[in-house]
Order: sequence, then C-alpha cells, then structure tokens
Amino acid sequence: MARRKKVYEGKAKILYEGPEPGTLVQYFKDDATAFNAEKRATIDGKGVLNNRLSEFFMSGLNAIGVPTHFIRRINMREQLIRAVEIIPLEVVVRNVAAGSLAKRLGLEEGTALPRPIVEFYFKNDELGDPLVSEEHIIAFGWASQQDLDDMVALALRVNDFLSGLMLGVGIRLVDFKIEIGRIWEGDFMRLIVADEISPDSCRLWDIETGRKLDKDVFRRDLGDLADAYTEVARRLGVMPSNGTGVQKPTLIN
Ligand code: TMP
Repeated sequence: MARRKKVYEGKAKILYEGPEPGTLVQYFKDDATAFNAEKRATIDGKGVLNNRLSEFFMSGLNAIGVPTHFIRRINMREQLIRAVEIIPLEVVVRNVAAGSLAKRLGLEEGTALPRPIVEFYFKNDELGDPLVSEEHIIAFGWASQQDLDDMVALALRVNDFLSGLMLGVGIRLVDFKIEIGRIWEGDFMRLIVADEISPDSCRLWDIETGRKLDKDVFRRDLGDLADAYTEVARRLGVMPSNGTGVQKPTLIN
C-alpha cells in the first residue's frame, strides 16, 4: 500500500499531505510533553479525545464566522484541514492569572484579570518560546501591524466563544493558546485559526471544585490526564460516556 507523505511531525501531531491541493491530514498522537519536552509520556486515548474536541471547537468557530483551518473529521485520530502558512507565534489569551503569568508578575493563581490579556510568544523550541512584544514582531517581520490587529481580534473572538461554551458546562476558561496561519484566496491574504484547540492548549478549571481538567494534570502530576479530558468531552456532549473506547456491537433483533 502506498504510504502517504509526511509533511511535518510535531510533539503531539503529525501532518500528512491531503487528498487535494491546499489540504492536509492532521493526525493526533497520544504523546504528551511539557516544559519544552523535558517531560514526556504516552497517554492512551489522548489523541482521540483531542481530535474530537478540536473538531468541536473549530467547527463551532466556523459556524459563528471565526475562520479556522478545520474542514472535517476523517476518523478517530485524523481530520482534514486547510494548509496554512503558520505565523511563528503562540497567541495566548488569559482571563485569570495562572502559569507563567502568575510566576512572572508574582500574582496569585486564580486571581481574575481586569480584562482579557493577549500575549505573543515566539515559537522556537531552542529558545523555549520566549514572550515577545508587538515591537519585536513587527521589527523582525513575523507579522505586520494589520496582521497583529487581526490576530488580537481573532484571539478575543475565540476567547468569548470558548468562555461561553465552557461556562455553560461549569468550567472556567482560565487561559488558552492558539496558532494562526495565513491562507491566500486569489490576491487576498486572510488569517485563520490553525493547529488545535484542546485541553492540551487551554487551562480549564471546574467552577465548583477548582479541579483542573487540562494538561496541568500532566505537567503537575495531579492524576489521570485522559480522565480529565474525558470529563470535558462528556460535559460538552462531544463523546459518549465510555470515552475513547470502541463502541461494543449491539444485537439487533
Ligand atoms: P503559560 O501560563 O505556561 O504561559 O501557558 C499559557 C497557556 O498556553 C496555557 O493555557 C497553556 C498554553 N500553552 C500551550 O498550549 N503550549 C505551550 O507550549 C505553553 C508554554 C503553554
């Protein structure tokens, strides 16, 4: 059987050539990494959960007019996406102080921020993805002022959408990271949400108990990561309560 061409392999996903020009197949692995891949594990079922959750968030965004790379899910671990030119920035939106912001500014984790804060990190593993300012981004040509304005607007729309969705199922969206890519339509360039949106790239806290339902469970050894992600999927009605398990055959009389 002809193997498809691998275009890129990252820490949690693989990209293959898609069936048509301008498309790619995004495969979700079970691998988890943290602290720039210093900590690694394989978590059974994580890829299946993230494929379904990213489909859920991205198709919802598409439906409200926030453009994303998502076209359709192909199977348990793969989705068809539009090929984009990734802007080498991680765009983080924060609603509540946590993680690196809490550490950098000496804020107590859990403190609500006065307004959502958008930050940019330069995607470079060797440098550990350093925080950068708009000045750096423009001076080094990673994006233009217009791109920056568009990226902030996109990120804030994603924040409103995800915050509302999560609030509806008793989850606080503390912060999240997105990546943004360029596509060309004729002579026009547009920015769209790319990569993935999943509990790997968000902080999600149960509103009642404060239980962490995101990758911090792995980063900080707080329990079973697949259980936490399954809980998010279950609350959103994304997956049957048996999680990643294959459906048992049922007898038809
Ligand atoms: P931080 O507090 O560690 O800077 O993380 C902010 C948000 O970005 C959090 O929701 C986790 C997410 N994130 C990623 O998705 N990938 C990364 O490499 C890092 C450092 C954070």
